[in-house]
Amino acid sequence: MAHLLALGLLAATASAQNFGGSSRDEDAFSYVQPENTTILGPYGHSPAVYPSPHTSGSGGWEDALSLAQDFVAQLTLDEKADMVTGQPGPCVGNIVAIPRLNFSGLCLQDGPLSIRVADYASVFSAGVTAAATWDRDILYQRGYAMGQEFKAKGAHIALGPVAGPLGRSAYSGRNWEGFAADPYLTGVAMEETIQGYQDAGVQACAKHFIGNEQETQRNPTYDSNGTLTDVIQEAISANIDDRTMHELYLWPFANAVRAKAASFMCSYQRLNGSYACENSKALNGLLKEELGFQGYVMSDWGGTHSGMASIEGGLDMNMPGGLGAYGMHPEAGSFFGGNVTIGVNNGTLDEARLDDMIIRIMTPYFWLEQDVDYPTVDPSSADMNTFSPRSTWLREFNLTGPRSRDVRGDHAAIIRRQAAEATVLLKNNNALPLRAPKTIAVFGNDAGENTMGPLNSDTFEFGTLASGGGSGTGRFTYLVSPLAAINARAQADNTSLVQYWLNNTQIATNDVADLLAVQTIPEVCLVFLKTWAAEGEDREHLKLDYNGTEVVNSVAATCNNTVVVTHSSGINSLPFASHPNVTAILAAHYPGQESGNSIVDVLYGDVNPSGHLPYTIALNGSDYNAPPTTAVSTNGTYDWQSWFDEKLEIDYRYFDAHDIDVQYEFGFGLSYTTFNLSSISSTQLVRHISAQPRQLEVQPGGNPALWTGLYNVTVEVTNTGDVEGAAVPQLYVTFPDSTPAGTPPKQLRGFDKVVLQPGESRNVSFELMRRDLSYWDIISQQWVIPSGEFVIRVGFSSRDLRETVRISPVRA
Ligand SMILES: *[C@@H]1O[C@H](CO)[C@@H](O)[C@H](O)[C@H]1NC(C)=O
Ligand SMILES: *[C@@H]1O[C@H](CO)[C@@H](O)[C@H](O)[C@H]1NC(C)=O
Ligand SMILES: *[C@@H]1O[C@H](CO)[C@@H](O)[C@H](O)[C@H]1NC(C)=O
Ligand SMILES: *[C@@H]1O[C@H](CO)[C@@H](O)[C@H](O)[C@H]1NC(C)=O
Ligand SMILES: *[C@@H]1O[C@H](CO)[C@@H](O)[C@H](O)[C@H]1NC(C)=O
Ligand SMILES: *[C@@H]1O[C@H](CO)[C@@H](O)[C@H](O)[C@H]1NC(C)=O
Ligand SMILES: *[C@@H]1O[C@H](CO)[C@@H](O)[C@H](O)[C@H]1NC(C)=O
Ligand SMILES: *[C@@H]1O[C@H](CO)[C@@H](O)[C@H](O)[C@H]1NC(C)=O
Ligand SMILES: *[C@@H]1O[C@H](CO)[C@@H](O)[C@H](O)[C@H]1NC(C)=O
Ligand SMILES: *[C@@H]1O[C@H](CO)[C@@H](O)[C@H](O)[C@H]1NC(C)=O
Ligand SMILES: *[C@@H]1O[C@H](CO)[C@@H](O)[C@H](O)[C@H]1NC(C)=O
Ligand SMILES: *[C@@H]1O[C@H](CO)[C@@H](O)[C@H](O)[C@H]1NC(C)=O
Repeated sequence: MAHLLALGLLAATASAQNFGGSSRDEDAFSYVQPENTTILGPYGHSPAVYPSPHTSGSGGWEDALSLAQDFVAQLTLDEKADMVTGQPGPCVGNIVAIPRLNFSGLCLQDGPLSIRVADYASVFSAGVTAAATWDRDILYQRGYAMGQEFKAKGAHIALGPVAGPLGRSAYSGRNWEGFAADPYLTGVAMEETIQGYQDAGVQACAKHFIGNEQETQRNPTYDSNGTLTDVIQEAISANIDDRTMHELYLWPFANAVRAKAASFMCSYQRLNGSYACENSKALNGLLKEELGFQGYVMSDWGGTHSGMASIEGGLDMNMPGGLGAYGMHPEAGSFFGGNVTIGVNNGTLDEARLDDMIIRIMTPYFWLEQDVDYPTVDPSSADMNTFSPRSTWLREFNLTGPRSRDVRGDHAAIIRRQAAEATVLLKNNNALPLRAPKTIAVFGNDAGENTMGPLNSDTFEFGTLASGGGSGTGRFTYLVSPLAAINARAQADNTSLVQYWLNNTQIATNDVADLLAVQTIPEVCLVFLKTWAAEGEDREHLKLDYNGTEVVNSVAATCNNTVVVTHSSGINSLPFASHPNVTAILAAHYPGQESGNSIVDVLYGDVNPSGHLPYTIALNGSDYNAPPTTAVSTNGTYDWQSWFDEKLEIDYRYFDAHDIDVQYEFGFGLSYTTFNLSSISSTQLVRHISAQPRQLEVQPGGNPALWTGLYNVTVEVTNTGDVEGAAVPQLYVTFPDSTPAGTPPKQLRGFDKVVLQPGESRNVSFELMRRDLSYWDIISQQWVIPSGEFVIRVGFSSRDLRETVRISPVRA
């Protein structure tokens, strides 16, 4: 969804050139000039897949489908046009009511960590934070609790979760909204979150489909008015080959379909030359045919660039409905709306396709029983909606029901616990947990109270950061700062001295010994630093914001027990990681509203950290490959091209393939206890394994044969330390030599989280499914198990692999 008028970000639509100059350094991504600016015009380079497949309701939606069919049979043509076209209204997306049919319309609300346009709602941890838990239960419970809040506020559709961006580039501005730079972990997170949302009664929307791996030039550059449809330069084209598409970017979306996500949101940018929201290969071919998706595809806000072509290409709903940048001009017409009516009447649009669009929209609505006593849209949402304020409404909306409902329930406790469990302990030289220190000094502009209102922003220097920006942000009803939580804890502990310095410039440019101005160095110096990222802009560098590195160096020059905590969108370079006085480092990401309490729980050992990195921290920012394409200096209409020519080599797949040392590898995370692994074994679950899957009838998620368990790998995990803790055993697969070139050295294909008492051992088993052991064969257009020996390794990170077992499912 588009970033907001209220945040004044619209001017950033053509922000590519903004990256020149300013804060370049060795961590900044390099300038990338497209190699060939003439190829890949708007159409013809992505295979055509028509017609758009009709839904069958397969996979358990059959009864709901027949209700949807009955509903559609009663609609007039104008009502049908309304059903597929957004209107300005109380929510960020609105489908108008049809009172004649007792249909009260649809309310679509942002976003992936909170219901954004709402009062008295919770702000949960961000996707990257939740992924760092590697905990299926937490991912589910987070989704369920969030779903409850959306429903109680009257939103039918929650615009999340996010699997695109996946994390191709360390610099992408929206990685934190999604989960992990790995398709397997992201796929599990998608499934759990979607099930959570939908069990709570709200429709999920898997987004952004697909290839939305950078923000720069994600949308076209429009004429200088920035309002209508005259395009100067088209959006960037993500050019992705078929194998990479399947094995990386499509993979987690397959899990989303399998989890029966009600809806998908197609992404802003072009894909292999044509806009993602009219790309028939992606929407008709991959999503509806291959993956058997039974729900509906909505456009990202203003991501529709044609009428009939998009409908034929597989788009089912145009959001928010109008023309122009971000679709904000319904009064000027719509690519859908009246054009749908005209298209049916002039014979261009087959009414059966229009009916299918609506059946797809209404089937999950009936399946989730949203027709029965669903809460009304909270009238306060309408007043807070700056995207389509009342003055822009063209249609009637009856807002009834209680105003300003407090939907937070007991979610604060869940949020606190989940963010604590997500905290990744990167370094610990016996500094943590804290043992009631007598003197504490707190440093950094991320420690204190948020100083500029209830929305986090990059413009406030002072205040803790608990969310990123754009449509994926949340509006805090309160935010517990680290300093407040430390003060409360210190009081309970009778800590005699807590002092703090929150001005980074002051800390970085002074001798901290002078600032302390006391005889003794504090027992512990806690440094809190932040890193902003937002929709609509990619990151310029990977360093901690506001001279964070200099702040750490300044504190550590004096304080020999310096503990660094980062609140960040994700990847940061940590040049101080080996500084002897930096005794602990914790990556807390964006924890949500209980931030301070969550980190204090970890610092003091009430919660033993068990988070693991969902990405790699390289030694240098410049070590990362696949930077965003930026600073295209030519003016050709189609000049923005992003070649995904690293193919499968993103994040650890790249560092492993090129044997590059890293600071902290994918999957890494410490605990206050230690764990051991032993006794790996593997059992084949089916008698005969063929290279190709049986061709079964496609179900949501694709050919069910791909989801059949082929092996069960078991290991024993032991807590070898003296406190309770949660281990995260991870299984990585190395494919046989017969696999086509370009296969990464190892790939995550299983994980679990297991809580163990001191000395306790437990067996953990991983079920390897057919898809886990297959590569996508571009010739046969099938998932194929290569012949020869697989090496299966289990460990506690991608570079701490301790147990090995070999399997040969298909003999050479
Ligand atoms: C660039 O694209 C044009 C048009 O498809 C093609 O003729 C030319 O060979 C391409 N050049 C390179 C360097 O790939
Ligand atoms: C810009 O807007 C003005 C007023 O709405 C309109 O007259 C003009 O044609 C627009 N310019 C372009 C290039 O579309
Ligand atoms: C139909 O779409 C065109 C753009 O292709 C737009 O200019 C026109 O206003 C639309 N008509 C209606 C009735 O919305
Ligand atoms: C029919 O109407 C649609 C929608 O306005 C338009 O795109 C298409 O060109 C029209 N076709 C004919 C044959 O007039
Ligand atoms: C109309 O909708 C209301 C509220 O969802 C529901 O309680 C009622 O049963 C519906 N009535 C009919 C006739 O469908
Ligand atoms: C709004 O309420 C009025 C009065 O009850 C009713 O006539 C009208 O149909 C309602 N409109 C919508 C869009 O629900
Ligand atoms: C922060 O510290 C710097 C350097 O001491 C000073 O110039 C600046 O005014 C301080 N900022 C605030 C808001 O006090
Ligand atoms: C970093 O510190 C320098 C002075 O040492 C200052 O000019 C600059 O504004 C600071 N940058 C940030 C982002 O605080
Ligand atoms: C570590 O801290 C001590 C003070 O306790 C200081 O003397 C020393 O220089 C510091 N080490 C570094 C590398 O800054
Ligand atoms: C820091 O220095 C003090 C004083 O020299 C010493 O007592 C303490 O053990 C040191 N702490 C660490 C973590 O090295
Ligand atoms: C691109 O367009 C701008 C504005 O019209 C112009 O100043 C510039 O010279 C053009 N650049 C190229 C490479 O054609
Ligand atoms: C895998 O093995 C474990 C331990 O023997 C067992 O409990 C589990 O049921 C097995 N899973 C499957 C799918 O066979």
